[in-house]
Amino acid sequence: GRTMSIIRLDEVDSTNLYAKSKLSDLDDKSVVISDRQTKGRGRYDRTWIDLGGDNVFMSFVLKPDNGFLTVFPNLTQYLSVTVCKIMEEYGLRPQIKWPNDVLINGKKICGILSETVTQGNKFKGIVLGIGINLNSDATALKNIKDKEATALNIELNTEYVDKVEFTEKLIREFFRFYDEFLRSGFTYIKPDYLNRACFINNLVSVKTFNDIKVGIAGSITDNGELLLKNDDKEFILTMGDIL
Ligand code: BTN
Repeated sequence: GRTMSIIRLDEVDSTNLYAKSKLSDLDDKSVVISDRQTKGRGRYDRTWIDLGGDNVFMSFVLKPDNGFLTVFPNLTQYLSVTVCKIMEEYGLRPQIKWPNDVLINGKKICGILSETVTQGNKFKGIVLGIGINLNSDATALKNIKDKEATALNIELNTEYVDKVEFTEKLIREFFRFYDEFLRSGFTYIKPDYLNRACFINNLVSVKTFNDIKVGIAGSITDNGELLLKNDDKEFILTMGDIL
């Protein structure tokens, strides 16, 4: 196929919005990276705050040609495992909060937002966006109100984490096993995912579309869903947000 292209922007509203609007011009396996983001978006219509130009705002553009596959929703989990492995190379112990938040010492350091693009009922592609706090100071992190957040430089106790080096690694590692992951499905990464999953066997509240379910986070199914146990009942959650 064609060589993968990386589109670098100084500033954009959101790399996801950009990638979605230009999807038909972009090749499969392109990457959009911006130094700044003025309208970063998170899951459930939340905003993703721009902590400055030394942080990662990036979207993978994926246009597999076999139409929609059931493994696509698991790409966020595949990406979260990839991020964990890189952070482990820096000597840290990241954890995954189902489905795909990456935490260090219980604080969020990375968020992932996957969006499926369709035209009529035709599948066009996936925009897999990722924001990683690489370099921030404690004061700026306090602007993130909804949950406790941290940054890589803070966890490493260093002044600066090299953004070019980190993003190059991330892109390389993501595509290294990507084709194999699409072929094999979630079970391909399940052990790696479970090794880093926090809250298993804990009592949790999970916000789903329209309600909050409470129970023991039992395990993760072979499709990456969360199995929630509550005395008499068992729920299989395909999406949601652990509160
Ligand atoms: C979340 O945790 O709710 C997901 C956050 C995703 C943020 C990234 S930053 C790059 C890409 N562009 C966006 O507008 N959002 C994603």
